[in-house]
Amino acid sequence: MPVLLSEAVGGLALAPGADCIDGTLGGAGHAAAVLSATAPNGRLLGLDADPEAVLRARARLARFGDRTVLVQANFRDVASVAAIHGFARVRAVLLDLGISWYQVASAERGFSFQAAGPLDMRFDPRATLTAEEVVNEWTADELADVLYRYGEERRSRRLARAIVAARPLSTTSELAGVVSRTLARRTHQRVHPATRVFQALRIAVNDELGALETVLRQLPELLEPGGRFAVITFHSLEDRIVKQFVQREVRDCVCPPDFPACRCGHKATLRAITGRPVCPSEAEIRANPRSRSAKLRIAERL
Ligand SMILES: C[S@@+](CC[C@H](N)C(=O)[O-])C[C@H]1O[C@@H](n2cnc3c(N)ncnc32)[C@H](O)[C@@H]1O
Repeated sequence: MPVLLSEAVGGLALAPGADCIDGTLGGAGHAAAVLSATAPNGRLLGLDADPEAVLRARARLARFGDRTVLVQANFRDVASVAAIHGFARVRAVLLDLGISWYQVASAERGFSFQAAGPLDMRFDPRATLTAEEVVNEWTADELADVLYRYGEERRSRRLARAIVAARPLSTTSELAGVVSRTLARRTHQRVHPATRVFQALRIAVNDELGALETVLRQLPELLEPGGRFAVITFHSLEDRIVKQFVQREVRDCVCPPDFPACRCGHKATLRAITGRPVCPSEAEIRANPRSRSAKLRIAERL
């Protein structure tokens, strides 16, 4: 179920014939809505790091015929992929970060602590770093940093030490067992502590924050004047990266405030369309509880 669908696609202010990029195809729900909004001849370049997502999207978008170009690629390479496929300047870019339901549901991908599978967690099976390597080879300090930063786990040092003591770990169930034994669930906690641990490892394995910073820097150049991008995030660190990027790009000068005169020469490239992030309605959260942490930000190329 695509998250914030009408808010994101509506906020891109699309018109017939517009060429767009979806950097996170997933199940192609947003992509289908973009193609409908740009009918009859708008083209869509769709990227996903996961080849299975590209296959699923190809089936789902077949009815749009040759209006789609679907590629297995990391969105951190969006500018070069776009140039290769004739999308060097587009009207809109959409990024709906994180993970798809089918990835969570596929035990063999290792994303879920509720299903026994290998410790994998890669979006792109060609990538070399897996969760197994992080869990078994990173130092206790490195592991604790990942759990603290990306999982907001306050007991990260204790958990990292327990993981190191339990090595070697090769399955999601083994890891979930260590988490449960180490972090007894507190009565007020709504989510199982393993949720945050698995999220943290997934973010590290796929360098999700690095990829987001890299793609954002390319967006102003990729968009035609008046073109917009929309980013849906599911984690406060991701939202902060998008927020700070937009705050910087709406300003002409980004010198430290104590500089007497501008030395950076920076020129604003964006106008913010959303001040505060847009969040799902209560009705959407009821229908799709996974949407509850979603935040949407939209900006426009000057
Ligand atoms: C939340 S899903 C997208 C759902 C989609 N908007 C829909 O309507 O079904 C996120 C997708 O982004 C992909 N993804 C995550 N990080 C990526 C990256 N850096 N480059 C390309 N794809 C990425 C994941 O493989 C996943 O399929």
